[in-house]
Amino acid sequence: MKHFLMLFIVSTGLIFQAGCYYDKEEELYPPQPCDTSNVSYATTIVPILSNRCYSCHSNANAQNFGNGISFEGYANISAYLATSTQLFIGAINHQDGYPAMPPASPKLTSCNINQIELWIAAGYPDN
Ligand code: HEC
Repeated sequence: MKHFLMLFIVSTGLIFQAGCYYDKEEELYPPQPCDTSNVSYATTIVPILSNRCYSCHSNANAQNFGNGISFEGYANISAYLATSTQLFIGAINHQDGYPAMPPASPKLTSCNINQIELWIAAGYPDN
């Protein structure tokens, strides 16, 4: 009986500690909410393009890696979208019949795709 009690106490202790461990993990890595209410060109769109597209589609790299197309700077991206919005949206969604962008690397997160589509639907303001 004594042994059984000891075992009981030790194992509840272990379960309790495991509980604490997971609680802490959630504090360290809270699920990231997708901010779709404050989408702006400068604070939302540029960082996405800079991280995932400028390696080929910046002013400096477009000629060698981006088929001559630069999305760097509002004048460039807005001029592109004025003629090829559907191509841009098809590319980032990896839709059939469109070049999958970025090529040979993971698709943008669905959060980032939503943010870009919202910004385009709002008339891609320079905000
Ligand atoms: C590794 C280089 C590279 C990266 C990174 C890249 N692209 Fe491209 N992109 C290209 C190349 C090369 C082409 C032209 C060839 C093709 O259409 O597949 C292209 C074509 C495109 C086109 C079609 C252009 C047209 O009018 O014909 C769009 C739209 C596009 N990219 C958007 C993006 C976006 C948005 C990103 C970032 C999310 C991105 N690309 C990242 C290399 C890249």
